[in-house]
Amino acid sequence: MKSSAILYLLVIGLVYAQTDSLEKCKSGDTKCIRHFINEVFNVEHQGVPFLKIPSIKPIKGPLLSIKADKNSPVAVNLDFYDFEVTFNRNITSSVKGFGNQINGTHRIRLRCEYITILADYKIDGKVLILPITGGGRSNLTFLDPEIIITIKSEPLEKDGKTYMKFTDFKLQMPKLSRMITNLENLFNGDKALGDNMNKFLNENWSDVFHELVHPVVTGLGETAREYISKTLENIPYNELFKD
Ligand SMILES: *[C@@H]1O[C@H](CO)[C@@H](O)[C@H](O)[C@H]1NC(C)=O
Ligand SMILES: *[C@@H]1O[C@H](CO)[C@@H](O)[C@H](O)[C@H]1NC(C)=O
Ligand SMILES: *[C@@H]1O[C@H](CO)[C@@H](O)[C@H](O)[C@H]1NC(C)=O
Ligand SMILES: *[C@@H]1O[C@H](CO)[C@@H](O)[C@H](O)[C@H]1NC(C)=O
Repeated sequence: MKSSAILYLLVIGLVYAQTDSLEKCKSGDTKCIRHFINEVFNVEHQGVPFLKIPSIKPIKGPLLSIKADKNSPVAVNLDFYDFEVTFNRNITSSVKGFGNQINGTHRIRLRCEYITILADYKIDGKVLILPITGGGRSNLTFLDPEIIITIKSEPLEKDGKTYMKFTDFKLQMPKLSRMITNLENLFNGDKALGDNMNKFLNENWSDVFHELVHPVVTGLGETAREYISKTLENIPYNELFKD
């Protein structure tokens, strides 16, 4: 009885220690900021209210859209609706910038084992010379991706307080080891054609990624911007930090 009560207290203590461990960092303390970001992705599923960071499990958005580029070997119109982005809870980050100088370039680099985008999709166009049409559920999974978010910003004065104002925001995925694509219900559910097309997309994932998915990644940047802007552009810069 006694020992189980102690155990209970220990567990409660640990749970509190974990959420309490998220404190503001000093500006420019990239080691602390890196740790903070890792915790937000890996531990703090409910978000961080004092910095207006919403829950990011999962990250959601209404639409990612690609318009056919006639000059590309992959000329398709492709829409992903109501997408959800999930990832394994093992993100490591590194950070540059976020010092006492708002003016300039700030960078967050993230690595993890996979990122998955689940969505309803609609596709219509040509891949090389093959026509492709279909719509249904889709799963795009990136293995060992590296994500780099680059923010250029300048100070903005509002009501006597100084905010960060993004002058440029970019999300890139410069590295990945593979992309796995699964488009269900291609060609009106013709299984043989659909399986062949998925096989084609997976065996040629590198070309597909560069021709087609690159715009999706750029689109994801819009979603990332919305999430990050709520914190960085909406809280006075000095209140983001504890110095
Ligand atoms: C987390 O990632 C590291 C290195 O990327 C790896 O060594 C480790 O096994 C991973 N842990 C889990 C729980 O996936
Ligand atoms: C920010 O940097 C730009 C270019 O480096 C410079 O022209 C501008 O004056 C700077 N603004 C402030 C407020 O420091
Ligand atoms: C998405 O695809 C990946 C890679 O094939 C797979 O591991 C994962 O289970 C899939 N997710 C869902 C929800 O189907
Ligand atoms: C991958 O693309 C090449 C042409 O670039 C094609 O010859 C090959 O058949 C494709 N792979 C599959 C599995 O279709």
